[in-house]
Amino acid sequence: MRKRLIVSAAAGALALLLSVPASAAQAGPGAAGIGDPYYPSAGNGGYDVSHYDIRLKYQPATDELEGTTTILATATQDLTRFNLDFVLQVKEVLVNGRTAAFTTSGEQELVVTPARTIAKGSPITVVVRYADKPGEVKRGGYSSWRRTPDGGVAAQEPESAAWWYPSNDHPTDKATFDVSVLVPNGTQVVSNGTLSTSQRPGWIRYNYRQAKPQATYLATLAIGKFDIRQDTTPGGLPVITAYSPDLGANAGAAQASVERTGELTDWLSTIFGAYPFDTVGGYVPNVPTGYALETQGQIFYSPAQFARGANTSVVVHELAHQWYGDSVSVQRWSDIWLNEGFARYSQWLWSDHENEGTAQELADFFYDYYPANDPFWSIKPGDPGADNQFAGAVYDRGAITLQALRNTIGDDKFFTILKGWPTEHKYGNATIQQFQAYAERISGKPLGELFNTWLFTPGRPAAGTNGIGAAPAAASLAPGVTTGKHPEPKSWKKIQETNNVHEHKR
Ligand code: ARG
Ligand code: ZN
Repeated sequence: MRKRLIVSAAAGALALLLSVPASAAQAGPGAAGIGDPYYPSAGNGGYDVSHYDIRLKYQPATDELEGTTTILATATQDLTRFNLDFVLQVKEVLVNGRTAAFTTSGEQELVVTPARTIAKGSPITVVVRYADKPGEVKRGGYSSWRRTPDGGVAAQEPESAAWWYPSNDHPTDKATFDVSVLVPNGTQVVSNGTLSTSQRPGWIRYNYRQAKPQATYLATLAIGKFDIRQDTTPGGLPVITAYSPDLGANAGAAQASVERTGELTDWLSTIFGAYPFDTVGGYVPNVPTGYALETQGQIFYSPAQFARGANTSVVVHELAHQWYGDSVSVQRWSDIWLNEGFARYSQWLWSDHENEGTAQELADFFYDYYPANDPFWSIKPGDPGADNQFAGAVYDRGAITLQALRNTIGDDKFFTILKGWPTEHKYGNATIQQFQAYAERISGKPLGELFNTWLFTPGRPAAGTNGIGAAPAAASLAPGVTTGKHPEPKSWKKIQETNNVHEHKR
């Protein structure tokens, strides 16, 4: 589902002049990648998906997954062949009702050759039938299907789709989803959106529907034993939470955090505007991972994040992503600051709300925390590279950037932007350059130097730049002390528990 670009009449006429005459356009294969510089084979060219219908049967004891995924798409060129991103064993592919030839090539490309060329603009219905043990399928020594003692979980960024459904696996091709999973009685299923179930002897079918556009990596699937709870917020938004019964000592802290999902969503709505999806929730499976993931309307958490007690900060981070990351998604993976910088900053706002340190105090604290020669400052949050997409700098320097912006344009304009941006690009994709242009428009100030300094220039900016890291006020120092570091906000360690990227250095 790609948003149509609104082009002015003049620009349209120019494009027409520059484009190759239609008669010269050749039918050909769709590209094997969608053109993302960080991940050249991610996504595919030649078509645009509008809907995934994913119908699965799973045996937790043996990890046997059988599936039929139906993809509704539109050809964006005359297509003789196209790719899907998928790693499981395929049994059969149909395109528009006819058997299609297929091969697997490269890391995770399923190459489909339909019986007939598909004309540009025409609808495509692809049916892929498959069966495999996803936990045993590795790429680069790695499976994105994580086995648990009673099932398995798919939740990873930038990819995990290929281990449970074939797709155009890039955030720019959003679609709606139906996920329907048949499991033995006594097993539960978690996925995105509204839930209904139906029973048949010995088996139960879980049906999840995501009716709002969703990026492929934000679809999640967890199968196993879960205590699933359904409720609604005071405003009427359905809330689904789910917990593995085997969280041990972390169970209480996990529930005391994730059960606040509805309340925290309402609080974030006061800052970011109306919540963009039909359901909200979170689940905590029995996995040893250290990260959480903003899977759309149904957030994945790791039990380890609650090992030191309740952590509402991580819940705020993942909920903030529903606006910044899920509704407005990256155009290219290098735009990841638009997700992580804002999700981290929302934790700073929550810290302020809870009287555990203001955003300015956190910005000053982290400015000191990473000394000027720390490798932290060598990563550019605005273009960190694929290997550093989730490095601490994208989060912490990313949030410092927002405090620098706030100091420069003032609270009124800053909060207007925080609320306006998710509306401006609702259910779409955007770049950092578009954000800068938007912030310049709302604030009426040129901001090129600010963004260049904080997002695109390696090295720690001089103390005091845009009001960040200036020497602490004399009044905050102990008697007789004339210089020193900024005070330690109470919230900072909890905030860092969101991702296990950092060790606690102090
Ligand atoms: N977007 C996730 C979060 O910040 C982080 C995912 C980290 N994934 C990874 N492979 N390191 O909540
Ligand atoms: Zn995040």
